[in-house]
Amino acid sequence: MASISLPSLFCQAACLGFTLLSTVNAQPDYFLKSVPPAYRNISAVLIENNLAVIPGNWNVSDLNAPFYDIRTNDTDLSIALNETKNVDFIAFDPLFLDIIGPSAKLERILSFPGVSHVHEAPVYISETNELLFADTSVIGWLYAINAANYTVRNITTNPPLYNVNGGTYHRGKVYLCTNGSPVRAVYTFNWTDGTVSPVVNNYRGRKLNSPNDIVADENSNLWFTDPAYGWYTPWSGVEQPQLPNAVYFFNITSGALVPTTNDVVRVPNGLAFSRDRSTLYISDTNSTSGRPLQKSPSSVRNIWAFNVTGSILSNPRLVYQSEVGWPDGFRVTSNGYIIAGAASGADMFDPQSGVLLGKINAPNDIIFNVEPILGTNTWFLTGTNYIYKVTLQEKSLPASEILDG
Ligand SMILES: *[C@@H]1O[C@H](CO)[C@@H](O)[C@H](O)[C@H]1NC(C)=O
Ligand SMILES: *[C@@H]1O[C@H](CO)[C@@H](O)[C@H](O)[C@H]1NC(C)=O
Ligand SMILES: *[C@@H]1O[C@H](CO)[C@@H](O)[C@H](O)[C@H]1NC(C)=O
Ligand SMILES: *[C@@H]1O[C@H](CO)[C@@H](O)[C@H](O)[C@H]1NC(C)=O
Ligand SMILES: *[C@@H]1O[C@H](CO)[C@@H](O)[C@H](O)[C@H]1NC(C)=O
Ligand SMILES: *[C@@H]1O[C@H](CO)[C@@H](O)[C@H](O)[C@H]1NC(C)=O
Ligand SMILES: *[C@@H]1O[C@H](CO)[C@@H](O)[C@H](O)[C@H]1NC(C)=O
Ligand SMILES: *[C@@H]1O[C@H](CO)[C@@H](O)[C@H](O)[C@H]1NC(C)=O
Ligand SMILES: *[C@@H]1O[C@H](CO)[C@@H](O)[C@H](O)[C@H]1NC(C)=O
Ligand SMILES: *[C@@H]1O[C@H](CO)[C@@H](O)[C@H](O)[C@H]1NC(C)=O
Repeated sequence: MASISLPSLFCQAACLGFTLLSTVNAQPDYFLKSVPPAYRNISAVLIENNLAVIPGNWNVSDLNAPFYDIRTNDTDLSIALNETKNVDFIAFDPLFLDIIGPSAKLERILSFPGVSHVHEAPVYISETNELLFADTSVIGWLYAINAANYTVRNITTNPPLYNVNGGTYHRGKVYLCTNGSPVRAVYTFNWTDGTVSPVVNNYRGRKLNSPNDIVADENSNLWFTDPAYGWYTPWSGVEQPQLPNAVYFFNITSGALVPTTNDVVRVPNGLAFSRDRSTLYISDTNSTSGRPLQKSPSSVRNIWAFNVTGSILSNPRLVYQSEVGWPDGFRVTSNGYIIAGAASGADMFDPQSGVLLGKINAPNDIIFNVEPILGTNTWFLTGTNYIYKVTLQEKSLPASEILDG
């Protein structure tokens, strides 16, 4: 992807168009603004006026179709959209370019030819410099890709874990969430020998729906989402939900499991703390839910912010609605922006304003999760088709401050 040298093409078209902008209406790249000279080495476009007015009539195929895949009979628009589809970074706001920097890079480091499985639960393990992740459809083993040379290791879990969907690194421990089998749970996982051991697997005798994603707080207590994807998918052995979809607080000292929200967020999925840990962000993937699993463009696909006090969440406010697909896993950057997995790429937005700043573009793929090497410029995206490595000027949260991955 880094090899695509579109900037010159854009400069040609957009720089020319620039001159014409004030005088002539018809020009090929009329909604593409030339990126500032400092950014011409990267594969990026800047969308003028957020494409607030689309000429003529157009059509969009489904929930997973990004704006550049709209069907239009306007040839000029079609050309510009097709060019946009091919770049690595799409800026809706010039601030996005400042954040990603003039050397931003997107690389595909692992592909999955011939299979289209969902890749979940990325956890960066500093001890081994590996990115652990799961093929959710698999029972009994996980992938670990070396972050330096991309060698892939296959770790067999003992006893076998079913349909691993979420995970986090916290103070030398890896926690994983399972979505399949008659008992779904949060487990600890030893990345050396693959041994796993359950941490919590029920709410007073009722089976958890399917723990999906997890983070730890500064007291090592666990926060995890529990939507019903095991039932929706469906994974083998999963019975009808016995609990509402919820976000839980698990007190690691007392073993108490506290539901913290089971209404505002209908289908809770990814979650992450703000840098100061006063805010917990939680995504709602209602737009892809239900049994049979359906994609509904009119259903919500949100990220909410909540205030956190002990085990109580309050003051929910909507900070993001994904334009395409649904917001799955996401991470907070060192300056407080959020990078969220969605269909066709990962979106960056500002949770203070709710403004979508730009997109790390992965056309024809679905990005499920974002995982950085803490304190660095390196970010990994797990998609259906690829594992991506993204190098941005913007760093992730420092490992010394945030103890989960
Ligand atoms: C773009 O790359 C060329 C060749 O590597 C280099 O000479 C030039 O300084 C770079 N420009 C910017 C703005 O980084
Ligand atoms: C494009 O043109 C075709 C043929 O005239 C027409 O059937 C179709 O509805 C048009 N599509 C849009 C999006 O305008
Ligand atoms: C949009 O697509 C739908 C379904 O393919 C079709 O029924 C409709 O006529 C299209 N509209 C336009 C304007 O092309
Ligand atoms: C843009 O790409 C689509 C899909 O590949 C193609 O059908 C369409 O003809 C292209 N538009 C132009 C103007 O080349
Ligand atoms: C990649 O790095 C790991 C860990 O240092 C090493 O064990 C492995 O042999 C390396 N693989 C290649 C192909 O260099
Ligand atoms: C990983 O290991 C498991 C169990 O040993 C095996 O069934 C599976 O095929 C392996 N997968 C890969 C990709 O090597
Ligand atoms: C993980 O397993 C290895 C090998 O069996 C063992 O040396 C290590 O102590 C284990 N780690 C933890 C945290 O239990
Ligand atoms: C998700 O949204 C649909 C409407 O699109 C609704 O029917 C369904 O009940 C919602 N799911 C949950 C768990 O609220
Ligand atoms: C929620 O947290 C924000 C940021 O820490 C703070 O400014 C605000 O006062 C809090 N609101 C409530 C209702 O606690
Ligand atoms: C967790 O449990 C311990 C032991 O009962 C208690 O002291 C602590 O306040 C609890 N933490 C929260 C946030 O509820």
